[in-house]
Amino acid sequence: MTEATGSIEAPSMGRRRFLTLMTGGSVSAVVLGAAYPFIQYFVPASTGGGGGGVVAADAQGKPVSASGLLASRLSTDRVLAQGLKGDPTYVVINEGAIADYGINAICTHLGCVVPWVAAENKFKCPCHGSQYADNGKVVRGPAPASLALAKATVEGDTITFSPWEEEDFRDA
Ligand code: FES
Repeated sequence: MTEATGSIEAPSMGRRRFLTLMTGGSVSAVVLGAAYPFIQYFVPASTGGGGGGVVAADAQGKPVSASGLLASRLSTDRVLAQGLKGDPTYVVINEGAIADYGINAICTHLGCVVPWVAAENKFKCPCHGSQYADNGKVVRGPAPASLALAKATVEGDTITFSPWEEEDFRDA
């Protein structure tokens, strides 16, 4: 009985090293690619304006155009954007102008994203029925508090959200 002898050559050192580098590079690329969103979450977004703010962005992460928003929306509207810490935050349009505050869309009950119901001029949480006025003030539970505010600043065509540090005007 004879044993078949193959003609498989052992890779040369250069080729072996190349393959090792390629494998290592591929693994690194996969690991870094998977970790990128995690790392990005902890890196503050560029503000363009300082003061701990973030530029309001659309679902694709592109800056929301203030003029585009005003041209395409009703004179009174609430438009969802990405705000501080990536939280869904409404840009508030009142009487054809962007208000100096935004409204965090996260329900203060258990954290559902609260849709704006223009026909009823209020925010209504689909999870357990909480309702909020057009400025985010809670008007019906079980939500224990009003929707959080963010300061909104318009410079040129850019809308920036920054932490709300004043008193809550809705408590007056
Ligand atoms: Fe909104 Fe419960 S999460 S009412």
